[in-house]
Amino acid sequence: ALERTLSIIKPDAVAKNVVGEIYSRFEKAGLKIVACKMKHLSRREAEGFYAVHRERPFFNALVEFMISGPVSIQVLEGEGAILKNRELMGATNPKDAAPGTIRADFADSIDANAVHGSDAAETAAQEIAYFFASTEIFSR
Ligand code: CMP
Repeated sequence: ALERTLSIIKPDAVAKNVVGEIYSRFEKAGLKIVACKMKHLSRREAEGFYAVHRERPFFNALVEFMISGPVSIQVLEGEGAILKNRELMGATNPKDAAPGTIRADFADSIDANAVHGSDAAETAAQEIAYFFASTEIFSR
């Protein structure tokens, strides 16, 4: 099915100047960037975005990292976009990420892991609405 997913290029990858290279991987895989913005997240925004992880031991480090610099936030659209994006990203921990994936190539650690992508249809819808008004999404 034609899907949309939320993608974030995290502060480590923005600082490494690989935003364009990562966009290129999305496009070569048939995913279309239908919305995008750069943003330096506030603590409140980062905490709200990752609210599902609030009780996890890594929550504070994750929020600190996500507010350490600007991020690039995108909506990707395409056939099976949610799974396709997760395949392009590779495993959460770059040590486990398959060769040729974004995390294998650009991530340094499980926190500084270059990208975020929605994990399911319901979270994709929530995450897209968290950052974009429908008037900011340009489909076709
Ligand atoms: P992300 O897809 O953005 O979702 C939550 C993030 O928490 C994850 O990527 C990792 O960067 C970070 N994180 C840190 N430690 C862990 C862990 N043990 N398990 C899952 N995510 C972790």
